[in-house]
Amino acid sequence: MNDNYLTIALGKGRLAKTTMKLFNKIGIDCVEMQDPKTRKLIFVNEEAKLKFFLAKVPDVPTYVEYGAADIGVVGLDTILEENRNIFDVLDLGFGKCKMCICGPKEAGELLESKEIIRVATKYPRICKDYFYNKKNQTVDIIKLNGSIELAPILELTDVICDIVETGSTLRENGLCVLEEVCDLSARVVVNQVSYRLENKRITDLVSRLNDALKDE
Ligand code: PRP
Repeated sequence: MNDNYLTIALGKGRLAKTTMKLFNKIGIDCVEMQDPKTRKLIFVNEEAKLKFFLAKVPDVPTYVEYGAADIGVVGLDTILEENRNIFDVLDLGFGKCKMCICGPKEAGELLESKEIIRVATKYPRICKDYFYNKKNQTVDIIKLNGSIELAPILELTDVICDIVETGSTLRENGLCVLEEVCDLSARVVVNQVSYRLENKRITDLVSRLNDALKDE
């Protein structure tokens, strides 16, 4: 939140690429940022008075909550996990996937039992909320940072709580979906103060993005 620019945080990775294409579609040029060789961190679009930056995905809600970014684009998984005070203003409808409890088929029985099972996840908050508040089941949560599917294969845990998109990772590793936690997709999030002070510019931009989605 500075001068008269709106600052937009994008999470590095798959969602950023689709988001940049969407901005290009509404006439906001992101070409410089799309260059895979660039080491630049902040990209200024003088014409639209916008500044873009790429951050680690879990940091996007943090930048937005504190107002270092007015707007962010991030998956609902990250929004739920980070639990920041931000407004979720638009479902972009891409990056669709599901948060699921997965494991070997036999682990299905453990999920029905009252035994304390072990769950590996990159999303301890979402996992805890699901088991403790929705299922009323006590579990032992082990936080990992990636390749979560390894955990039940190597018998570190009974199951995992992770994102399933195409299901290929599960299939290729002999695992399956045992329970569905929630649907996920990319969202536009906004700083709560910016939403009031820059309401017209932000709502105009969000509605242009929304219109561009309808044309797809
Ligand atoms: C995600 C997720 C699964 C995989 C699911 O991992 O954690 O491992 O994608 O996709 P699929 O259903 O299409 O196979 P990501 O690629 O983000 O890497 P990570 O394992 O390092 O988290």
